[in-house]
Amino acid sequence: MPVIHFVTTSGETLTLAAENGRSIMEVAKANDLPMLAACGGALACATCHVIVDPEWYDRLDPPSEDEEDLLDTAHGLTPTSRLCCQIRVSDALDGIRVTLTPMD
Ligand code: FES
Repeated sequence: MPVIHFVTTSGETLTLAAENGRSIMEVAKANDLPMLAACGGALACATCHVIVDPEWYDRLDPPSEDEEDLLDTAHGLTPTSRLCCQIRVSDALDGIRVTLTPMD
């Protein structure tokens, strides 16, 4: 099973195994990480905003136009920001590192 490294807003790293095909948001929620993900993955809220480690960012499928539009509304946007309900876990992402963003 691929693993995902989640870095919390306080700098702690949590490494979690994740099933292929789930979204990174689903993995975070299933493990009670602090993430609102208010729309449940419907690409309608931007509260699943994470910052992807630059080393990994280019390995992801590029964001859709809808995701980019929503990302523009996210707090603390960075060049490697993504909405993690749109990132599917796969073997190719084994070891990816994402940083959570504040919930408020
Ligand atoms: Fe709402 Fe990702 S959970 S956009």
